[in-house]
Amino acid sequence: MRTVRKNVLVTRKIPEAALERLRAEAQVTLWEGDLPPDEETLRGMIGPMHGLLCLLTDGVDTQLLDAAPVLEVISTMSVGVDHIDLGACRARGIPVGHTPGVLTDATADFSVALMLALGRRIPEARDYAASGRWRTWSPTLLLGRDMFASRIGILGLGRIGTAVARRLAAFGAQLVFHDRDAHAADELDLGIRYLPFDELIEEVDVLSIHLPLTAATLHLIGERALRRMAPTSLLVNTARGAIVSTDALVSALRSGWIAGAALDVTDPEPLPAGHALFSLRNCIVTPHIASAGEATRDRMASMAVANLLAGLDGARLPHPAP
Ligand code: DGY
Repeated sequence: MRTVRKNVLVTRKIPEAALERLRAEAQVTLWEGDLPPDEETLRGMIGPMHGLLCLLTDGVDTQLLDAAPVLEVISTMSVGVDHIDLGACRARGIPVGHTPGVLTDATADFSVALMLALGRRIPEARDYAASGRWRTWSPTLLLGRDMFASRIGILGLGRIGTAVARRLAAFGAQLVFHDRDAHAADELDLGIRYLPFDELIEEVDVLSIHLPLTAATLHLIGERALRRMAPTSLLVNTARGAIVSTDALVSALRSGWIAGAALDVTDPEPLPAGHALFSLRNCIVTPHIASAGEATRDRMASMAVANLLAGLDGARLPHPAP
């Protein structure tokens, strides 16, 4: 137990065990709302805080940092750090922690689940079965893709992309990837082959996105890319919504540039009710839940707390943001 209990702001309810550990060490102010605090509210609360435990829904920009004169550490309960101005934190000497690794398998499981749900038309099949139209077994009813026989492109062969590739290799799918590092698969023994970006998007049956959102990946999958993809191809995104241009995707799905999309992340997020993507039969949208396994979320929270406590002690964070 620390003798001086520092002030910490936690921007949403997080799993209880991690919160208890934090409460034992620091003076915790918890934002109890179901929705994130808005920017002004966050700025109003941050002044006396030595530590900030935030989520991917909380933007950390220079205005917030300017309102945080005693802030010593920021810890986000996410692997993605695109909501944080890392340069501004670095300039102020504020370390930032994140939660890599612990959500890899949960996110990979969910990516494959979305791929299968889209390719094998599971949401449509469920609706069909429940609608009263199910009269008999039919040789041609709700035909979908044989995922095991598909050519699947992994865009971004980092931790999560690799975990997805491992799962799909077990299916027997043909695997190709694109990554900044053309040698990312050299040690993997997965039979996955590198392709330049344009070749990857042109040649695959399914494109699965596993990149971080950066200036270089913003709208990487826009009209140009979507028009190059095969009209039979499927797109899966569990990374960040803004890697795909939403308007271009709506056009692609309506006009048949591609055959379907499954998205756990969208831009904007959440998508407003009534958005075109919700009404397209060839699109599945889930509410950013790829990492939402019970044990996974417990581990993410405890990792975020470990980062925060290390920062309050002036120690090196166990998991500093890149
Ligand atoms: C992350 O941690 O960045 C994920 O998007 C949460 O699911």
